[in-house]
Amino acid sequence: MKKEINPLDYASEIMKAVEKGVLITTKVGNKVNSMTASWGTLGIEWGKPIFTIFIRENRFTKQQLEENPEFTVNIPIGEFDRKILGICGTKSGSTTDKVSELNLSLEEPENISVPGIKELPLTLECRVIYKQKQDKNAISQENLTFYPQDVDSSFHGANKDFHTAYYGEIISAYIIQ
Ligand SMILES: Cc1cc2nc3c(=O)[nH]c(=O)nc-3n(C[C@H](O)[C@H](O)[C@H](O)COP(=O)(O)O)c2cc1C
Repeated sequence: MKKEINPLDYASEIMKAVEKGVLITTKVGNKVNSMTASWGTLGIEWGKPIFTIFIRENRFTKQQLEENPEFTVNIPIGEFDRKILGICGTKSGSTTDKVSELNLSLEEPENISVPGIKELPLTLECRVIYKQKQDKNAISQENLTFYPQDVDSSFHGANKDFHTAYYGEIISAYIIQ
């Protein structure tokens, strides 16, 4: 069962959770993959509610988004197994089936092709309406430290890759109960 919500009513809860880590789930064919993200913004553009995520070049999630530009944001409420964020934030979907490894329970989506994750029940269903590779020349000197050029793209943490911002229009939002 799902309780429909207005994401703006939950803005504070959503953004506090993002700071600690949420999941971004994507799907191409039968491959469902979740990665941990702690960068994201909730806002309005073109008169629409939008959740924007920032994905480095070599993440498997980026490949998935390029093939199917839809994602869910999976946000914990209360207690949950923090190992989920650890595994989804260090292993890549290119070599691991994280959903099976963690035994995550998928929830049928309402309006997009990507499922929710019952263990992280506050769900935003998003469709990419705009994307932009961030311009390294426009990034401040201070923030260039997030892109150490001597760290290979395959590293799960900060590395030499820059981010692409994917603006996901929030098509529906609900809490899985
Ligand atoms: C707390 C935390 C936050 C993270 N936030 C981001 C993020 O916002 N963007 C990003 O590209 N990678 C982020 N990462 C790294 C990815 O989650 C990690 O590289 C993951 O293995 C990528 O999975 P994938 O290759 O299946 O997409 C974060 C990792 C952790 C642990």
